[in-house]
Amino acid sequence: MNALIPLIAVIVLFLVGWLGTDQAGLYVLFGAAIPYIAIVVFFCGLVYRVVRWAASPVPFRIPTTCGQQKSLDWIRPNPVDNPYTLFGVLVRMALEILFFRSLLRNTKTELKSGPRVVYSSNIWLWLGAMAFHWSFLVILIRHMRFFTEPVPFFVTFLHQADGFFQVGVPIFYATSFILLAALSYLLLRRLFSPQLRYISLVNDYFPLFLLIGIGLSGFWLRYITKTDIVAVKELALGLVSFTPTFPESVSPLFYGHLFLVCTLFIYFPFSKLMHMAGVFLSPTRNLANNNRMVRHINPWNYPVKVHTYEEYEDDFREKMKKAGIVVEKE
Ligand code: HEM
Repeated sequence: MNALIPLIAVIVLFLVGWLGTDQAGLYVLFGAAIPYIAIVVFFCGLVYRVVRWAASPVPFRIPTTCGQQKSLDWIRPNPVDNPYTLFGVLVRMALEILFFRSLLRNTKTELKSGPRVVYSSNIWLWLGAMAFHWSFLVILIRHMRFFTEPVPFFVTFLHQADGFFQVGVPIFYATSFILLAALSYLLLRRLFSPQLRYISLVNDYFPLFLLIGIGLSGFWLRYITKTDIVAVKELALGLVSFTPTFPESVSPLFYGHLFLVCTLFIYFPFSKLMHMAGVFLSPTRNLANNNRMVRHINPWNYPVKVHTYEEYEDDFREKMKKAGIVVEKE
């Protein structure tokens, strides 16, 4: 059920966008109002979540340490896995954000017959995650050609590099395929591994189905119905310049694709997908481990009223003596 409900929801959402324009003629709603709302919710939601995280107290340095800490001169420190400078932190963060290094080092634990606990590499999850995130980024950047005129050089470059194999007409983009293959793998591993299926919730399946829906509908638009790209660009430029137009030659299927994208944007700030911003704010990653080099004083420390032993003894000296307790001051 946890997988079926999101699957049905995504199919219904696609049909709403498609039939809402094709049958009900609600072009202003699906082609302009909802995209504008989605962008506003996305940015406001993102800022709200980030500001709330940034405002949470982090009184202590709690970096994850995975290597030798900087100590005596003759002990070689590990400046990346146990960073003690800002540069070390930046290198570790960059490796994490660009190459998901902690996921690569993650191991799988299995109980084999015997019983024997076996640790093995989890390289497929890392490969699937890398393939998905990088192809998603390339697709997003490529889509900028709809929203810009003239098209920036790096968008044209990516378009040419991605279509390098030049298979068929329109040219087949490698990332269209890699995105769908990686997402299918990420979905199937949840469905077929009993342990993963047990812990997977609606909120784990919904983003996967939504992204697959976006990828499939985009794939359909480009390779099967071959929608009028010039008209789509007119619509996209109209949105950017706040003068929306809805050219008739845009395929109604396009509005299904767009509606799924809007759903993703609205859903994003309230979902686990916020790990995109969260990784930058994670105190276990973004702090240098210089706990032994610098004395960190909790900025929220306030003067605490204390009752010292000397004062205690002054208060109770006679009673203590009577009870036979040794006192420091006679
Ligand atoms: C999260 C955002 C989006 C994702 C992940 C996405 C994904 C895709 C994918 C995978 C394709 C298949 C072809 C390709 O790889 O380029 C595609 C095609 C397409 N997408 Fe998107 N899309 C997104 C947003 C949008 C938006 C906002 C528009 C509105 C302009 C749009 C319009 C189109 C059109 C018109 C095509 C057909 C492209 C062609 O024929 O070259 N997409 N999309």
